[in-house]
Amino acid sequence: MSVSNVILIGDYSPRQRQQLEANFVTHSVDSLAFLHDLPETVRQNCRSVAYHGHSPFGPFEMDQLPALELIANFGVGYDDIDIDAAMARGIKVTNTPHVLNDDVADLAVGMLLAVKRRLLAADRWVREGEWARRGTFPLNDNASGLRVGVLGMGRIGREIADRMAAFKSELHYQSRNPKDTPSTWQFHSSPLELAAAVDVLFVTVVGGAETFHLVSSDVLSALPEGAVVINVSRGSVIDESALIEQLESGRLGGAGLDVFDSEPKVNPKLFALNNVILQPHQGSGTVKTREAMGDLQFANLLAFATKKDLLTPVN
Ligand code: 8YV
Repeated sequence: MSVSNVILIGDYSPRQRQQLEANFVTHSVDSLAFLHDLPETVRQNCRSVAYHGHSPFGPFEMDQLPALELIANFGVGYDDIDIDAAMARGIKVTNTPHVLNDDVADLAVGMLLAVKRRLLAADRWVREGEWARRGTFPLNDNASGLRVGVLGMGRIGREIADRMAAFKSELHYQSRNPKDTPSTWQFHSSPLELAAAVDVLFVTVVGGAETFHLVSSDVLSALPEGAVVINVSRGSVIDESALIEQLESGRLGGAGLDVFDSEPKVNPKLFALNNVILQPHQGSGTVKTREAMGDLQFANLLAFATKKDLLTPVN
């Protein structure tokens, strides 16, 4: 096999880099914005790229790589890649599904526990000596036996629902079609209907234009007083200003957010709220899972280079 050129865009662990460098002639850039720094011949002839990033990969970027045939994305979500533009240029896109389901679901449930049991405030209560000074920590809310809604019953949504079933929850969900679930789980035909039926809303739908502000101000208002919203999907899925307003007014009981509108910049209004837990988009951020994501990205690049079927194509 002749050795393929692969442009590595973004960050890779030493092990991932070693694996890629052992199998391909690699050229690295920190982000898409630096593609033009690559030698002209590399840009003109490169047929595959490894992409790790969250900035738009659209026609402008694709046209800098006229021979491109494969974008192997590091991540299950590929909302930053313009799939129509890729299709128009005959470019295949792959992602890294499955391997991160457990970690993202664990973080989602962890954030719910943190909000309901006020884990961050309770930790401060101990560290800052309030326990000794003021005594018992204020009583908080149950995390078990709740009416739990999952918006988007895909692979990650299902892992969250399975975990929440163990917390004795009454389960509700909304997705394009009813799924094969235990018979007691209730399907709802719209996000509005789902919101009206639950105390906790887990947001796990895919990001992108189709789900932009799916959790609108109206959907948030349909949640009962004191409800909690957990988002491990994309910031774009929730109307963040409306969410902040309802958290500030105390109409909503809290939120757990791993993703934000304009991350890594986060609306400072959220910092002033003590009923939210904020995470730095780290749902899949364990050593084991990030390596598994890198392995799957690499396996797609290798399949392309050796003319085998792509493992996880999205178009
Ligand atoms: C990111 C994610 O890819 O998989 C996804 O869709 O959002 C994450 O796993 C991760 O932050 C790496 O950038």
